[in-house]
Amino acid sequence: MKHLYIVGIGTGNPEHLTIQAINALNKADVLFIPTKGASKTELADVRREICERYVTRPDSRTVEYDVPSRQTAGRSYLQSVDEWHAGIARTYEALFATEISEGGSGAFLVWGDPSLYDSTIRIIERVKAADQVEFDYSVIPGITSIQALAASHRIPINAIGKPVQITTGRSLAESFPQHVDSAVVMLDGEQAFSKIDAPDAEIFWGAYLGTQDEIIVSGRLADVAGDILKTRAEARERHGWIMDIYLLRNGGDRDE
Ligand SMILES: C[S@@+](CC[C@H](N)C(=O)[O-])C[C@H]1O[C@@H](n2cnc3c(N)ncnc32)[C@H](O)[C@@H]1O
Repeated sequence: MKHLYIVGIGTGNPEHLTIQAINALNKADVLFIPTKGASKTELADVRREICERYVTRPDSRTVEYDVPSRQTAGRSYLQSVDEWHAGIARTYEALFATEISEGGSGAFLVWGDPSLYDSTIRIIERVKAADQVEFDYSVIPGITSIQALAASHRIPINAIGKPVQITTGRSLAESFPQHVDSAVVMLDGEQAFSKIDAPDAEIFWGAYLGTQDEIIVSGRLADVAGDILKTRAEARERHGWIMDIYLLRNGGDRDE
């Protein structure tokens, strides 16, 4: 049977790779690298660098593939995601059928950890359910952008004994600050931190974490929100893309 390794690679620093991840990359006959158009070239470059640095078996092959982009016009969000995943599943199915030989193996290099705001596992399950190619798979954990954020700011993510919500920019206003004390916000294309009413919350923001271009800013939300907006816009303009994440915290360790 064919085998697939879904390998978490961390968030941009090749040294985020675990030994388990390096071993899995070396077990795979084929390494699949997604290319998502010019703005994501740097992400493909990180994956190529990881392969060059850690893959020592001489017969390993790299196969690059295009990820279709998500179509949004005239569709609900869920419809659009469903169609997009169906398209990616077809791409995966074709890759497994043509690039992995019977009894052979392949690996996907997944940004951060495969369990966190990533649909690789979901899409692989879809390919399995379609039952056109027989394969099994395993998941290797990676360092998430949440851990990279916490390490760069030198902070614990939770206040003592308190929960933390992980959410998106789109959903932040539904929960923070009314229902949760701490929220980690990912996938925020609308800078939701600048639209909520929580001037005294603390924000710990980071972009391009783990890479040479890493930027971090922290402080009282009302004092630093403007600075983050400006820094973010300038960085996005300079690179042509941005990935950022932040922790918002209302109250400290000892507040009840
Ligand atoms: C599709 S999700 C993937 C998350 C990934 N699986 C993980 O474990 O972090 C992409 C989001 O993760 C966050 N992210 C990933 N890498 C990042 C980085 N190097 N710096 C800042 N944020 C990052 C951003 O919020 C971005 O919008």
